[in-house]
Amino acid sequence: MPVTIEYERPWLYPAQQAAIFDARDLNGQAARYALIEASTKAGKTVGCMAWLVEQAVIHGSPGRSYWWVAPVYPQARIAFRRIKRGLPRALYRANDGEMTLTLPNGSTIWFKSAEKPDNLYGEDVYAAVIDEASRCREASWIAVRSTLTATRGPVRIIGNVKGRSNWHYKLARKAEAGEPGMAYAKLTAWDAVAGGVLAREEIEDAQRLLPENVFRELYLAEPSDDDGNPFGLKHIDACTVRELSPAATVCVGGDLAKSIDWTVLIGLDKRRCMTGFDRWQKLPWDKTSERILGLVGKAPTLLDSTGVGDPVVEGLTKKRPTIEGFKFTATSKQQLMEGLAVAIQSHDLGIVAGPVIAELENFEYRYTRTGVRYSAPDGYHDDCVMALALAVEKHRQLSPAMFSAMAPGGGTRISPWLGGS
Ligand SMILES: Nc1ncnc2c1ncn2[C@@H]1O[C@H](COP(=O)(O)OP(=O)(O)OP(=O)(O)O)[C@@H](O)[C@H]1O
Ligand SMILES: [Mg+2]
Repeated sequence: MPVTIEYERPWLYPAQQAAIFDARDLNGQAARYALIEASTKAGKTVGCMAWLVEQAVIHGSPGRSYWWVAPVYPQARIAFRRIKRGLPRALYRANDGEMTLTLPNGSTIWFKSAEKPDNLYGEDVYAAVIDEASRCREASWIAVRSTLTATRGPVRIIGNVKGRSNWHYKLARKAEAGEPGMAYAKLTAWDAVAGGVLAREEIEDAQRLLPENVFRELYLAEPSDDDGNPFGLKHIDACTVRELSPAATVCVGGDLAKSIDWTVLIGLDKRRCMTGFDRWQKLPWDKTSERILGLVGKAPTLLDSTGVGDPVVEGLTKKRPTIEGFKFTATSKQQLMEGLAVAIQSHDLGIVAGPVIAELENFEYRYTRTGVRYSAPDGYHDDCVMALALAVEKHRQLSPAMFSAMAPGGGTRISPWLGGS
């Protein structure tokens, strides 16, 4: 028996509707690809949810797949819950484990994370949304694009502006330049104010509170020259080296694993080049302590002693007086980050290409009532950056005169990991 679904599009403010639903290319044809750069809280997620549901309701048939793709699993899960909450109970069958919603016409909306692009291949997808696109890896876009090939399905690619060196920014420029089949739109906070979903005072408050470049990027969707990275990508690049320094380690910084992240240790030589890097996961605390003692030797070491790390670090400092704890508070963490930023921006660090560089490049500003903070995006680790910042802080505390006294003529090899010349 044919099923009749009555569907009414939720109200969208005109700029939101135009960007997401009425996307047209320069020839006036309905655009298969809509690239949208938007302010935070401009209604990106809500607008695209309405669009994807409408695609599945109107064009869906048994077995057809529709995809919602978010940078990390928790964000995909939030979208899943939000759509579920927004739809009448009779309109879908939900599979909470797989995160799918199957509609009466037999089509299914899937909620996917962009973390593992390999898992995004292999299906025929009839329409897709990539939410927070500037935070998704390019490989995930390539994968999603492949799933739309056989179906010639449309896609909405939407996100904040986050510097210029990401695929979302580049693809948006292509769309803006008038590539056939592509549409480009910008939704600023002022559009959202005009549309009645954001309060003018809230935006004015943010404007007063935030550095201008940060405000422009987050609320006006205009990229800042520092690429939205608090350290500056150019500066990170200037600090990147290929190999660990063979010189003696003069200090070590370490971040202890909390629940799901890593324990990371980073050693620096006299010239602040990395001499050692090690990280591990899921070791019991006694094994972690043993390993730290073995790696740091007698090098002055600063370890994050916040929360669960506190008793561990206390035990370590008793065994090895050269080890010291550092407690993160919102303020002390920010100061530590600023110290790291200064070192990076004065090109006064040698950081080995790999995980540490990747984490630094991924860092972004975070905006709170009390100001701007530096942090990893949701779902990403910051333990390498923290370990590096602690090592830099330890280095700052030690005077250069002390280094030469400690390590005459380049120093000795103090552990297999922390090489010496
Ligand atoms: N058309 C609309 N009508 C009513 N409320 C809306 C509309 N669009 C967005 N909103 C409201 O504005 C708020 C932000 O919407 P949404 O989460 O979609 O924005 P976003 O751009 O995805 O934000 P973020 O930057 O947090 O990802 C939500 O509370 C949402 O309910
Ligand atoms: Mg959103």
